[in-house]
Amino acid sequence: MEKQTKLWKPAEYTQDHPDIVEAANALKAKDVVAFPTETVYGLGADATNEEAVQRIFDAKGRPADNPLIVHVADQQQVGQLVTHIPEVAQLLMDTFWPGPLTLILESNGTAAQNVTAGLSTVGIRMPEHPLALALLKAVERPLAAPSANRSGRPSPTAADHVIQDLDGRIAGILDGGATGVGLESTVLDCTSDVPVILRPGGITKEKLEQVLPEVRVDPSLLGEAGKPKSPGMKYTHYAPEAPLWLIDGNDDFFMEQLNRYKSEGNRVGVIASDELLAKLDHEQVISCGSRKKVDEIAGKLYHALREFKRSEVDLIFAETFDESGVGAAVMNRLRKASVKVLESH
Ligand code: TXA
Ligand code: MG
Repeated sequence: MEKQTKLWKPAEYTQDHPDIVEAANALKAKDVVAFPTETVYGLGADATNEEAVQRIFDAKGRPADNPLIVHVADQQQVGQLVTHIPEVAQLLMDTFWPGPLTLILESNGTAAQNVTAGLSTVGIRMPEHPLALALLKAVERPLAAPSANRSGRPSPTAADHVIQDLDGRIAGILDGGATGVGLESTVLDCTSDVPVILRPGGITKEKLEQVLPEVRVDPSLLGEAGKPKSPGMKYTHYAPEAPLWLIDGNDDFFMEQLNRYKSEGNRVGVIASDELLAKLDHEQVISCGSRKKVDEIAGKLYHALREFKRSEVDLIFAETFDESGVGAAVMNRLRKASVKVLESH
């Protein structure tokens, strides 16, 4: 059902700004509203109301078995959602909140059933964006919010991306400009003795290790390098319009592969660092910034994935990046977005 999507661009991020009050009222009336966070834009709904949350799944076309992250205004709201707060979780909240770290804790059932997809646990984070925090304060309840893209598409890092995917499907969009981190939060399971990273993100393993004695990485995140994906995995996550191939090798290998596929008549779009682009004689290119600044690459990645249109390119080749720090999250998203890896050995 097509509806008029309102676009608000508040000049100030305070909980009593008329735009923010209007957006909060829409949320209280069980509507869904997109808002910026420091990672990506989220699509919010009252996390305690099943009917409101259902509208998120409908608007995104999201599978019902994928749970949503609950966003809170402060630590106090966490107590309302969980059975208890383990010591490590308290330490992590004190250290990294507000910020791009989602904690998986035992739910006490206050979050709606469809938020947790029937699991006994709930993912919670306090975002660092002043507009998100003003909205959370105005609405006075926790907000469930997945990334505000159609399911399977790259996450939105600008209000314009949300419009591309969801215009006419949601009540409104709060425009707060481009997001900062550019990749989603780190998801950390705190229900076992040793916390486990389920999704790498803005708060890196290295940063977590500065405050925790031990951090594990979920086995599903390891050992993926170089493994070609089955065709069935195509277009499941962060997918650009044309098939994305990862080129895993040095710059010479990248150039060889590019020339080979071009000479076979393919129109190839290239997503790469400034350093590699400086060596290429090719027109269809998008820069992700310097490979020495992985934060910059994270910030530009989803925009780059949205840029190439199916009408313009047959294939997209992307460079691979160093996996330290936020590089782990960058490569995790690139692998998920890709349908094939070309390896140099
Ligand atoms: O940065 C972010 O986290 C953004 C902004 C909007 O806050 N949100 C976001 O939400 O990325 P979404 O729905 O696109 O990703 C949520 C991730 C999924 O991988 C989901 O499976 C996982 O968090 N998740 C949520 N609740 C969980 C739970 N109880 N147990 C395990 N994983 C959970
Ligand atoms: Mg998402």
